[in-house]
Parts: sequence; C-alpha cells; structure tokens
Amino acid sequence: MSTSFAYHPGNGYEAWLQYRRADRGTNDERFTEYHHIVASVQDEVMRSAVDELSDGLKGITGRSVSITEDAVSTPCILLGIFGASKAIDQAIDADTARAVKAEGFAIQTDSLTRNIAVGAATSAGLLYGVFHLLRIMGAGGAADRLSLVENPVNPLRMINQWDNMDGSVERGYAGKSIFFENNRITGNLERIKDYARLLASCGINAIAINNVNVHRVESRLLTEFLPEVAKLAEIFRSYAIKLFLSINYASPMELGGLPTADPVASDVREWWRLAASNVYAAVPDFGGFLVKADSEHRPGPFTYGRDHADGANMLAEALKPYGGIVIWRCFVYNCKQDWRDRTTDRARAAYDHFRQLDGSFMDNVILQIKNGPIDFQVREPVSPLLGAMPRTNQMIEFQITQEYTGQQRHVCYLVPQWKEILDFDTHLQGMGTPVKRIVDGTVHGNPYSGFAAVSNIGDDTNWTGHPLAQANLYGYGRLAWNPELSSEEIAGEWITLTYGNREPLYGIIQDMLMSSWEIYESYTAPLGVGFMVNPDHHYGPNVEGYEYSPWGTYHYADCHGIGVDRTTATGTGYTSQYAGPNREMYESPATCPDELLLFFHHVPYTHPLHSGKTVIQHIYDTHFEGAERAERLLAAWERVKEHMDEEAFRQVADRLAEQAEHAKEWRDRINTYFFRKSGIADERGRTIY
Ligand code: GCU
Repeated sequence: MSTSFAYHPGNGYEAWLQYRRADRGTNDERFTEYHHIVASVQDEVMRSAVDELSDGLKGITGRSVSITEDAVSTPCILLGIFGASKAIDQAIDADTARAVKAEGFAIQTDSLTRNIAVGAATSAGLLYGVFHLLRIMGAGGAADRLSLVENPVNPLRMINQWDNMDGSVERGYAGKSIFFENNRITGNLERIKDYARLLASCGINAIAINNVNVHRVESRLLTEFLPEVAKLAEIFRSYAIKLFLSINYASPMELGGLPTADPVASDVREWWRLAASNVYAAVPDFGGFLVKADSEHRPGPFTYGRDHADGANMLAEALKPYGGIVIWRCFVYNCKQDWRDRTTDRARAAYDHFRQLDGSFMDNVILQIKNGPIDFQVREPVSPLLGAMPRTNQMIEFQITQEYTGQQRHVCYLVPQWKEILDFDTHLQGMGTPVKRIVDGTVHGNPYSGFAAVSNIGDDTNWTGHPLAQANLYGYGRLAWNPELSSEEIAGEWITLTYGNREPLYGIIQDMLMSSWEIYESYTAPLGVGFMVNPDHHYGPNVEGYEYSPWGTYHYADCHGIGVDRTTATGTGYTSQYAGPNREMYESPATCPDELLLFFHHVPYTHPLHSGKTVIQHIYDTHFEGAERAERLLAAWERVKEHMDEEAFRQVADRLAEQAEHAKEWRDRINTYFFRKSGIADERGRTIY
C-alpha cells in the first residue's frame, strides 16, 4: 500500500513530469537512498535517459545526484545496454534480457544490495525504462521489489501535429503552434525539448510536425527550411522520436515549376528522388512523408487519372533507399456531394477507394485509417477498412484534439472510446480478430503498423488548454505502448502523477474522467447520428448545420423519424463492408446496438430501443440528464478546491462552468428541435421550448 500524497500542478507546464517532492507523509522517503546513477553514456538518447533520471531523482528525493561509470556505493541505479554493460549483464539474468525487444526494457531490484538495474537492448529502450522507473517512483511505488519486463505492443506510436507555419493550429484548442510563428520555425527550442520529453515519457516514437493540409509555405519545409527542420529533428532524435513531414502532393509544380505532378511522369519522379535525397542529407534518420491526397481539396493522383497506389508508390520509391516510409491517409471522400443525392454515402468512401488496391502498395507504404468511417465523431462504428487489406500495412488514426468532443472547453476523457474501438472484434479472420491485433501487426504480420493521433497541444502554458485534457495525450501514448492497459489504470496513473493520490481528490477526478465521454455524448448528437455542430469551427449545437451542405454528413430528420439507412437491403449498402457477424448485427435494427442505431437505420421517433425507451424519449432523457451531469461535474470539482493550489483549481473550474452552461444550450437546442419536428411531448413534462 502506498502512502497518500499530493502534488501541486501549479500552472500545469510540467504536466505529469513534475519530479517534485510530494506533499507530506510521502512516497519519496522510499527513494531518498537513490542518488547515485551508474551509466556509461554512449549516445544522445542515453544522455537524455541519464539526464532525465538525474533530474527526476533530484526532484523526487530532494538530494543531489552523482553519476559515475562504475558503481562506487550501493544502493545505486544501474543503466545499461545488454551485452555492452557488464554491470547490467550481471544484474539482469539472461532469460529476462532475452525477453526484452528492441524498444523494451527490464527493471530489477537486487534484494541484497537494493540496486535497481534498468537494462535494454537499445538506448531508446533505456530511455523508456527510465521514464517507467520515474513513473513508479512518482506514483509512490515500491523500489525494493521491482522485477519487470516491458515491450511496446505497437511498432509505430506516432503524433500528428496539425500546425501551420503562420502559427495557427488546425483544430487546435490550446493556443498557437509551439513549432512555427510568422511563417518560420520557432527559435524557442526549449519548449520543443519539453514536448519531446512529454511524448517520450509515454512512449511516443514518431512525430509529423506540420499539418496534413500543406499550404504553399509549408511545402518549403522540404527545401529552404531544411536546416531548421534538422534542428528540430535533432531534439526529437535525442528522445528517440523520428521526425516526419506532411508533404504537398503538388510540390513538383509548386516548388519545382514542373507542369504536372503526375506520378508516372519521369521528371516528377526525379523531382521527388532529389527531394528525398536532400532531406536525408539534412536529417539522416528522417522518418518519411505523411500525405493527405485527393482529400478535401488537396491535390493528388486522381487529377492525372492515377490511383492512390500510383501516388504513394512514387513517393515510397524515392524514400526507399534511405529506409523512409510513406504514410498515406485514407480520409478520401467526395466533399462536394449534392445533399439531395441519397445514394452516395460518405461512410463507404475509404473502403470503396482503397480496398481494391490491396497488395498494390510498396512495402514502405502504410495506410493511415481514421478510427471511424466519418470523422472523429463522439460515436461512430469502427472503420470497416481496418483489417480489410491483409497485404497492406495499416495504422489507425485517432484524434486527441477534441474537435468534435468539446474542444478542450468540455472535459472528455477519450481513452474509453479508443479502448472500445481497439477491442472491437472485426471477425475478419473469424472470431477474435480485434482492431488492436490488426493495428499492432500481429494478424497479418505486416512490417509496419501502429497508432497515429492528432495532437491536442499548443503554446498555452499548460499545453492542452483544459488541464484535464492532458490525460488524453498521456493516455494515448500509454495505450499505444500497451492497449491492454485499462482506462481506469491510465487515468489513475495520470491523476497520481499530476495531482497525487490523496482522497477525496483522486476519486473525484477519476470519476469525472471516467464518466466524461458518456456525459458529453448524452447531451450532444444522439444514438450515433453524428454531425449536429456548427459548420466550420464545429463548436456547439446546430442540428441542421450540415444538413443541406456538400459535406456528406446528414441525419435526414423529418416529422416521422431520423437516421441514415445504411443497410444492404434498403439503404446505401455500407453494412456490407463488414465481415459476416458484424454485417448481420448492424443490418437489423433488432440487433444493432442502441448507441449506433441512427448511424445505420432511419427509424420513427416512436421506435423502441433495447433500453425499452422510444427514440424520442431517449433523446429527451439523455439530454436532460447529460446537462444535469455536466453541472454535477462542476459541483464535484468544487470539492477538490481545498486540496489543490488556486491556479490549478481555477483553470479547471472555469472550463467546467462553461461546459455546464453550454450543455444546457445543447440540451435545449436538441430537445426543442426534435419536439418541434415530431410533435411528441416529453413523458415527464419537462420544459422544452
Ligand atoms: C476533419 C477536420 C479538418 C481536417 C480533416 C483531416 O475534417 O475538420 O480540419 O483537415 O479532418 O483529417 O484531414
């Protein structure tokens, strides 16, 4: 049992890496004897590991820390690479060492000497091991009985920044870009380093630093800005994070002055070969290109009558000699749809475009697939493309930034949503083919696979605007490392490292986080129908905001009912993209889960749900309850006031107050809309306008 303690997050800048002595009766006493590190630094990643451990110990124990190449006193913390460090080979037995893979690590405490050994096969593994040890110490764990091995489950654990060089962040809710300002790369490299530390501490190993929508100026990151890109890569490199760039498919025209960007044109191919060679000259371990092509007005191979494989392979060929990869996004759909046309279904688009290309991509191409078929809604089914291309590398894309989940003004802990998606059984190779096994590469044995997610940080002092949104960044990294961790465990780690584990604070925040997704869902778009937000900025309710627009996101509410018929029997045929049991489950309203009913079916307002309620009564009930629960979040937070510093308290309290108010707006708009459409009164006679 660990003792109870509190941290003081202050302005939030240090996030979960506070490395400070906790408040009273604490964990740190157990660690005060550890102020001696034994390591022989071989490269910059190991340098970071040693520095991090040294800073961490200093903060946690309040003592000065010595670093030597050989053990001079015990107990100490030994860091080393298997086969290269005698001390580590002695401290960690060979069987354990063999269980450690490239980025993994082992940690063991010797019961006699009380030395803690952190061993790894690579410097990256060592860095992760150090962060893990600091996490254990920061959470008040016992240092005297450590014996563990950890390996990351997913090879690629990537962050996508949607940062523009003018300093804005597309769908950013935490200030401006930390990477760019005034169409230049930032000079504030300290902040970049601190970001690299945060990311590495939860296991992230790749980052694309610019928005997938690449404008004219960002195209030049590949050319004239390369020296500054190299400086950023150097910082990330020292935290074992590979740097990627989002590229503009039309660069040969925009930068190279060529008349075409046709992927089969030899001068276009040559242009990309040269571009790749220049990038690798500046950044020898450059990760590769992230590409949004033929999507939402971005250029791509369609212009030339070519397909996505032609486009991706051209880039892959240019990167191949250097070991680089192309991450090609599958967010491709017709964004100029006629709303009158009920046969075109945006949900079908990714599968319809890509599925037929299975087997035609080079082996250094990875398809990046959004978790759902539409666009990061609060509730969507899992994208049927995940797992449907066995001969193609795939990774899943999540959105940490809360574009459609309250924009970091509402609290919405997203780990439970991601877990549900990862655990979803696709049935693609019979029962027991969950999404997590597809994206970690085990089902198809593809060379590249993993997670990507859109970051939620900006230059706000606390990184994420809403302090509780830090849990999403932390949680994403932890889940990418190990999708078996539970939402509660991850929340618990984050709360403990940020605020401490003292009650009632710990329990209150845990409850708030764990209920937040459900609460947000309950007062916004009902039963999986999606898109009832204001156009463009996507904040706040607007039931018909997209109903008569070209974007392909409709709910078709009329006086009788609501929802999209995506069945194979009578609708758009989207259900046919799923494997047998899922197809059948979604095809019939009798078996379709309530929370997705309106995604798959158009039903009357009086349709009875499995819950026993009618659709209309469900809408009224969830919206009244959701708004009440949002108000209770604020009341719950008031109870932590006396247990934390004023600034940390206030940052959250202000946002919860806004959420509570705004939830009422959602409630009243949605309820009023459906009352007026349906003419059906609330059974409980509550106020609807
Ligand atoms: C959403 C989002 C856009 C973004 C796009 C994408 O549509 O609103 O801002 O560019 O996703 O993922 O490419």
